[in-house]
Amino acid sequence: MALSKNESSLDDIKITPPQEEVGSKDQIPLCVPGQTKTSAARVLTEEELDRLSGERALVSDFKQMKLEKEAQKNWDLFYKRNTTNFFKDRHWTTREFEELKACREFESQRLVLLEAGCGVGNCIFPLLEDDLNIFVYACDFSPRAVEFVKKNPLYCPERCCAFQCDLTTDDLRANVPEGSVDVVTLIFVLSAVHPDKMKLALQNISRVLKPGGIVLFRDYGLYDHAMLRFKGSSKLGENFYVRQDGTRSYFFSKEFLAELFEETGFQSVANDYVLRETVNKKEGLCVPRVFLQSKFTKPGQSDSS
Ligand SMILES: C[S@@+](CC[C@H](N)C(=O)[O-])C[C@H]1O[C@@H](n2cnc3c(N)ncnc32)[C@H](O)[C@@H]1O
Repeated sequence: MALSKNESSLDDIKITPPQEEVGSKDQIPLCVPGQTKTSAARVLTEEELDRLSGERALVSDFKQMKLEKEAQKNWDLFYKRNTTNFFKDRHWTTREFEELKACREFESQRLVLLEAGCGVGNCIFPLLEDDLNIFVYACDFSPRAVEFVKKNPLYCPERCCAFQCDLTTDDLRANVPEGSVDVVTLIFVLSAVHPDKMKLALQNISRVLKPGGIVLFRDYGLYDHAMLRFKGSSKLGENFYVRQDGTRSYFFSKEFLAELFEETGFQSVANDYVLRETVNKKEGLCVPRVFLQSKFTKPGQSDSS
């Protein structure tokens, strides 16, 4: 993905591998449903281990600060270049997370969902199309992404409320009533947030979640193929890298994620690596992908006493 100088002030950062995103339209699963859930991290070859352990963070503090300052701009430019054409609709969410189906049990039961970091809506529109008994709050810090959501023909204010917000700085309660949400989805979003600020995002989410409500999480896992393709020149810190376009990606170990949620007051319900092989259509290569798929609840009133 070539960047013009006007589009990115990050052209002085060395070229990293092309942006390779889960569910992007260049990736197809090799042998669906060939995914394995496991509690153990992917085992690396000696060569891979040597390479990773020899890597130091080479991006200067100045550039790191600039990346943080320009994070919103860089995601907004991502949507300017790719519009709604980058990610595929995520039709797998109801298969993987049965909590999303709970609202169909009783007609009167309406599920209130917050899709935090919604992008252009690839997660929410399949849900809205599928289920009439759902209300979705959807936020993203890219104003362009939010506009794309609002322009989608499936968007209607009776069932959906999209708004712009930085999860790490803007109080969600400005748009979502406190303690009103049943389910929060965090799908490939926390990886884009600086590790030092992830807890702020979770605290923010916790305030709008009902006691007993749940966060459904899926994101890049430790030693994912995309992580191993980054060069040392793109390394920002432990398991944290910058792409060519200035967007960043963290690769989660299950221990790191559990600690992050538990320190924010959540309880772990599920936390597993998902291993699957995908074919990169452009390169004709079969590559091992690793994701982390997890669920955390906010304790109910009786649980916390
Ligand atoms: C890989 S996309 C995932 C979009 C969507 N969840 C999906 O499943 O298609 C990551 C999104 O996180 C958003 N994002 C990153 N940091 C954010 C922050 N601090 N606050 C709100 N949104 C953020 C980006 O703008 C981007 O749209």
